[in-house]
Amino acid sequence: LTQHQEGLYRLDDFFGMGEAWVAFRYEDVSAILKDPRFLSDRRKYSSQQKASPQNNSVNELLEWFKNMPNMLTVDPPDHTRLRRLVSKAFTPRMIEELRPRIQHIADELLDKVATQGKMELISDFAYPLPIIVISEMLGIPSHHQARFREWTHKLARAALNPGQESLVQGALQEFIDYIQSLISEKREHPGSDVISGLLQAYDEGDKLNENELLSTIWLLITAGHETTVNLIGNGTLALLQHPEQMQLLQEDPTLLPAAVEELLRYAGPVMITSRVADEDIEIHGTRIRKGEMIVVSLAGADMDGSRFDEPERLNITRQEIDHLALGRGIHLCLGAPLARMEGQIAFSSLLRRFPNLRLDVKPEDLTYHYSTLRSLVSLPVRF
Ligand code: HEM
Repeated sequence: LTQHQEGLYRLDDFFGMGEAWVAFRYEDVSAILKDPRFLSDRRKYSSQQKASPQNNSVNELLEWFKNMPNMLTVDPPDHTRLRRLVSKAFTPRMIEELRPRIQHIADELLDKVATQGKMELISDFAYPLPIIVISEMLGIPSHHQARFREWTHKLARAALNPGQESLVQGALQEFIDYIQSLISEKREHPGSDVISGLLQAYDEGDKLNENELLSTIWLLITAGHETTVNLIGNGTLALLQHPEQMQLLQEDPTLLPAAVEELLRYAGPVMITSRVADEDIEIHGTRIRKGEMIVVSLAGADMDGSRFDEPERLNITRQEIDHLALGRGIHLCLGAPLARMEGQIAFSSLLRRFPNLRLDVKPEDLTYHYSTLRSLVSLPVRF
């Protein structure tokens, strides 16, 4: 990584995809994410394009996987069409209706460990909570859920480690086969869930094609849990490392919504995303050329001292935290209302239930997955 000018860097190789620019400043990251000249769909500028996994070799599958069309990886008008198909299920009103159920799931998970005096917070609580919630929304039977973690971890690692395709070991093919069997199952027994709704749209004709159907289901499964687990994990760790903030929250639960926003800013799960320039674009006098990739550091922007006072201090009483942890512009996280509610329920339930929650590991022994996500491997706690 070499500095080109303040806040703008040059990266030799972005995860095997070649050279890229990197923006760290809040103002730049926000502007790039709102600028329609920066595309999410890089297929136009990539030689690796594949329309479908016709040849089932691991490499072919991986290429296809990286380029799958879903709302996150395409631009308008396709983005508008694909996002609209599922957006109804994720409005704040729809999500508010899920509150009692999410609370119940959180309570049940904590019941299971309550008498043990300790738990591994990621696998006992932070992981199962969002996966149960998103599976119920999508209409996925609970006994299928355990396999997702293994698949998504292997795939995320494979996508980030060029040359290490053996990591995939069939996980992708299994996942695709699984989604296809889920689709046939839902065809026979449709419900009121999000996947049944997508299938109905597919059957009605030109609303989405088969690849889009498959990859939208994949996106909802992965985005629906790989991120929120880290909000709960990173957020709990941040609170445990700032006991005075944790106490403030325990004394005044009305601080909860602001605390979740501050935890998203301070230790957001998604550290970076990227775009490709669709024409030559100048940023503070530097020309980003058509076809060049630009990585934007959401985590960097959220620590920008010109936007946030004392950015490295966790302060749950901060006012109007306009962070970038959930993105910005048309790709702003579709699941934001759900993520926020899951975070609020997770932190409030944990602190109410286990008021003397504390770390059961030395902070220096904590490790993170090698990933673009800020993702703790484990978080042992006592109570
Ligand atoms: C998009 C973060 C939870 C579904 C995004 C983006 C970010 C993000 C940064 C924008 C990426 C970009 O512009 O390139 C997060 C974080 C979460 C979270 C930090 C948890 C704390 C969820 C949940 C769902 C979800 C629970 C539920 C399904 C999506 C979808 C998109 C998205 C579908 C694509 C939206 C679009 O392209 O229009 N998320 N997310 N996310 N997120 Fe989330």
